[in-house]
Amino acid sequence: MKRIMATGLRGHVRIRDLRDKKARGEKIAMLTAYDAAFARLLDGAGLDVLLVGDSLGMVVLGYETTIPVTLDQMIHHTRAVTRVTRHALVVTDMPFMSYQISVADAVRNAGRIIKEGGAAAVKIEGGRAVLDVVERLVAVGIPVMGHLGLLPQSVHQLSGFRKQAKTSEEAERLIDDAVALDRAGAFAMVLESIPDDVAATVTARVSAPTIGIGAGPACDGQVLVCHDAFGLSGESSPPFVKRYAELGSLVAAAAGKYVEEVRTGAFPAPSQK
Ligand code: KIV
Repeated sequence: MKRIMATGLRGHVRIRDLRDKKARGEKIAMLTAYDAAFARLLDGAGLDVLLVGDSLGMVVLGYETTIPVTLDQMIHHTRAVTRVTRHALVVTDMPFMSYQISVADAVRNAGRIIKEGGAAAVKIEGGRAVLDVVERLVAVGIPVMGHLGLLPQSVHQLSGFRKQAKTSEEAERLIDDAVALDRAGAFAMVLESIPDDVAATVTARVSAPTIGIGAGPACDGQVLVCHDAFGLSGESSPPFVKRYAELGSLVAAAAGKYVEEVRTGAFPAPSQK
């Protein structure tokens, strides 16, 4: 019993649960989390999957892209999330250049995310270009979530954060990539910023659940960057984001009140004797 608890399996959502949800037509809810405070809240709210996304580079670390994020940073934030998560499946992004150089490198780096970070699975960007990596990771027992469409790590190649698969040729290529990832054993795949009908076709063609972000309602689940969803990324969030809260303005107002009370002496109240 002790061993099961130490490996963090007890009560957690499993890969198989996600496939069962797809089979039953139940939607999968995923959000990003980068620290223990948010992970505890989101896990308590019943999220199926928490993604330690490399978007942390942009929304937490202040970079303009995800490219500078390091493997050590991903592991550091993954640890914070897995330490407190009791229910959700925790998936961690492999950062730029941690899986593109060689399959051996990819296995070593994914292994660190699982062993040191405590994540249950990794996510990598790309289709047929990373198929050898997906196959090898799955073969050695590391579950892989794919990511197609807008690939933030390829932002320069794509000339910016823009919608993908808008022409029929691009859509065909993306669908072929999705089918290839599915066959290679990816347990789920993120579809980012693609037309709704392309996402619907992929969702119907693959056995793995699709998790959409800016890809319409037909996907098997949805993901958002939590800082976007809760109003913590200023005006810079993408157009498809729905804001479920305005925490940014709440925090700014609370901080302003604190400043005022410290300056006027209203806080702290005299201590009781
Ligand atoms: O890094 C991230 O947060 C992601 C999501 C946008 C899916 O990959």
